[in-house]
Amino acid sequence: MSDFTYQENIVPYSRAELAQKVAANLSESRFQHCLRVEETAIKLAELNHADVERAAIAGLVHDYAKQLPDEVFIEAIHEAGFDPELLQYGNAIWHGVVGAYFIERDLGIHDETILNAVRRHTIGAPEMTVIDQILFVADFIEPGRDFPGVVQARETAFADLAAGVRFEILNTLTFLIEGQKKIYPKTIDTYNAWVPTQAH
Ligand SMILES: [Fe+2]
Ligand SMILES: [Fe+2]
Repeated sequence: MSDFTYQENIVPYSRAELAQKVAANLSESRFQHCLRVEETAIKLAELNHADVERAAIAGLVHDYAKQLPDEVFIEAIHEAGFDPELLQYGNAIWHGVVGAYFIERDLGIHDETILNAVRRHTIGAPEMTVIDQILFVADFIEPGRDFPGVVQARETAFADLAAGVRFEILNTLTFLIEGQKKIYPKTIDTYNAWVPTQAH
């Protein structure tokens, strides 16, 4: 998507400058993932008549903090007023929730729609904006992803964005439980809000 041009002054950089800053913080393969998430987010935004530029920026920057050392996250959790419970988790949770802090600080992005989408891209939230949903799903179905069910995940998400969110939450939680992994409590809140179809 190197021809995509920013029009709205949401970031203090051109798209090429922003991409360069993201690339400088990531391995080549993770940067390529970010480019594919950007591209997928643009498609989903177009399909859903959403804000294409915000979706594109969120996609490009979403994993910006993914390769920062644990000590850097731990220091930020202590010093920037994050919930100390986060210390019991790790990079998989931090790079979204706390990653938004680094994106704002280092990339000069103050747009709350984009920052919230980054905060929620790994754990979701009971209530998600359309940009939250687009990033959440684009990260899961980008063309480089390969996992059992990915074809169905893509078909579902392109047909119905919210159905794509539900599919992803169910899939992710099932994966965590099957692997007997620790589950961040907010992920369960997301599940309860999105997945059960029966009345309470
Ligand atoms: Fe991520
Ligand atoms: Fe990602």
